[in-house]
Amino acid sequence: MRVAVAREADAGEPRVAATPETVKKFKALGADVAVARGAGLASGIPDADYEAAGATVGDDVTRDADIVLKVRRPAPNEFSTYKKGALVVAIMDPYGNEAALKQMADAGLIAFAMELMPRITRAQSMDVLSSQANLAGYRAVIDGAAEYGRALPMMMTAAGTVPAAKVFVMGVGVAGLQAIATARRLGAVVTATDVRPATKEQVESLGAKFLAVEDEEFKNAQTAGGYAKPMSAEYQAKQAALTAEHIKKQDIVITTALIPGRPAPRLITAAMVASMRPGSVIIDLAVERGGNVEGAVAGQVVQAGPAKIVGHLNVAGRLAASASALYAKNLLTFVDTLIDKKEKTIAINWDDEIVKGTALTRDGAIIHPGFTPKTAA
Ligand code: NAI
Repeated sequence: MRVAVAREADAGEPRVAATPETVKKFKALGADVAVARGAGLASGIPDADYEAAGATVGDDVTRDADIVLKVRRPAPNEFSTYKKGALVVAIMDPYGNEAALKQMADAGLIAFAMELMPRITRAQSMDVLSSQANLAGYRAVIDGAAEYGRALPMMMTAAGTVPAAKVFVMGVGVAGLQAIATARRLGAVVTATDVRPATKEQVESLGAKFLAVEDEEFKNAQTAGGYAKPMSAEYQAKQAALTAEHIKKQDIVITTALIPGRPAPRLITAAMVASMRPGSVIIDLAVERGGNVEGAVAGQVVQAGPAKIVGHLNVAGRLAASASALYAKNLLTFVDTLIDKKEKTIAINWDDEIVKGTALTRDGAIIHPGFTPKTAA
């Protein structure tokens, strides 16, 4: 059983799919591990550390691999040399990319999308959305603090008092919760909003104040899977009115609102941005999915009237070493379930909920019900 850790082809991707620690664990499962030369460098892991953990390092490691570990979905020029029937495990970004999934199916690959992992207790340690969003939420506050021209905590000094910064977090999932906790640790006065009622208590338990339109629709805004539903136009209008008043008084706003498989909801209009105080900062963590903020530009920090709008891409990747360590562990825990420990071979239980939830392609076809050609059309 050969496991290959591929190099990321995308220059904007500093993360890597294995660490020396996970290499050792794969070896213990009976796998030979080969790591692409330089794959870990941007995450602070030199080739020698992989070798010390028992991996071989080479330039063409994926060619005979039974399992290819990646951060991002491989492009056809990458997987053209993969073995037919190889397992490819990565963050596949499948929504709207059915054509790319079809190409992987045509190449005979068995592709698993880590971000489709069901959110059940057993799979918590495999949940890449959580492991990466948590870091992104932390980093959003650090980026916000760095762009902000004032201090976050209240400081009473002989030369005068610096008031505490006001931080507003919109969307209180994994990233939002970590952003609240981080902003609180830095001494900011924090408020937060979400459309899921369950978040109110979570916000308050972190010492922040909850702010939302708490009507009938709000009471039913959470799906059985724990995600937000798209809200009605009426709700959005009420939410916008509430937000518009609040935002005027905020120093740093962090938006994290997402709805799986859909464009990010627009929460902040250009008029709201224009109403902010000079020197304010908005961090749009949803920018990769269309953005929560009007005027946010993916990959850029733009000055929009009084406020700076920060649209960094791959925010977890801005903490590459931490992000890789957690991502690699997510992959290891998942792939571990695909291996027969006694025989030391791949043995996939296709009836397993986590396999069904994540498997995209098999035997030349797209098999995931969310992405079968019928749905794509
Ligand atoms: P997400 O990344 O899909 O969305 C982020 C947040 O945006 C969510 O809280 C969502 O309610 C909010 N949102 C959506 N539309 C909005 C709007 N119009 N206005 C304001 N906020 C809006 O969510 P994430 O971080 O993936 O978490 C979703 C849920 O899953 C949470 O309840 C989380 O605690 C839960 N979860 C459960 C796990 C498990 O294993 N049981 C693991 C991780 C998360």
